[in-house]
Amino acid sequence: MAEVIIVRSQQEAGAIYAHCVANLIARKPDCVLGLATGSSPLAAYTELAKEIKERHLDVSHVCGFALDEYAGLDPSHPESYRSVITRTVVEPLGFTPELVHVPDGNLDTIEHAGQQYDAAIEAAGGVDVQILGIGTDGHIGFNEPGSSLASGTRIKTLTEQTREDNARFFDGNVDNVPTHCITQGIGTIMKARHLVLLAFGSGKAEAIAETVEGGVSSFCPASALQLHPHVTVIVDEKAASKLRNKDYYRHAYAHKPAWQGI
Ligand code: GLP
Repeated sequence: MAEVIIVRSQQEAGAIYAHCVANLIARKPDCVLGLATGSSPLAAYTELAKEIKERHLDVSHVCGFALDEYAGLDPSHPESYRSVITRTVVEPLGFTPELVHVPDGNLDTIEHAGQQYDAAIEAAGGVDVQILGIGTDGHIGFNEPGSSLASGTRIKTLTEQTREDNARFFDGNVDNVPTHCITQGIGTIMKARHLVLLAFGSGKAEAIAETVEGGVSSFCPASALQLHPHVTVIVDEKAASKLRNKDYYRHAYAHKPAWQGI
């Protein structure tokens, strides 16, 4: 089962992630980080930037792989995930831009881009820590309900719900949101050695309860995480509000041996 940590704020969640990843960078300077877009990981990146600075960590060899990208959106568009990852991760954390990869949403080459992306992750040695947000419908990356739990990186059609959720990044107009994407598959994500899922706010409560305590089903793609040996789910009170086993998660975290980390 996943470890569930209930925190008071996004900043507290971010600090837990940051401490884990900073320790990883210190012992493995050429580690591979799985990166995500969306609002949920932002505090985690800010906290990691702080810890990198305070500990004078050399991040020049850190490699990164983003989860997904819109299909057919120019990488120079401010809301392409290439632009978002550059703005929220590469620049503030001081990573080497050439070592940070984002799936290629170019429609001319997308047919083979997924396989090539999975091969590049393998060649880099696999992802050490993958940060994840979650969609209101239980998607991770852009693996919408119904996604194969064994899938590799590939093109997917976005649900109308996801397009509406993301319209806020496109002048509030759903018609501006691309209809397709290229996303790491659930099978790809499951190969990462440690998964850290962050979720905040009541809008995520249903998806978190399904993910952690529901049955494993492609209807809630994030529920595949129950089959992974090392998952940390960090949520605020609102996102935790529909979890049945909340008291136990609190008790377990409060009594966790200090040496264990996440
Ligand atoms: C998009 C991204 C996901 C992200 C989700 C939730 O759909 N492809 O990776 O987890 O949005 O975003 P937010 O964290 O802003 O709620």
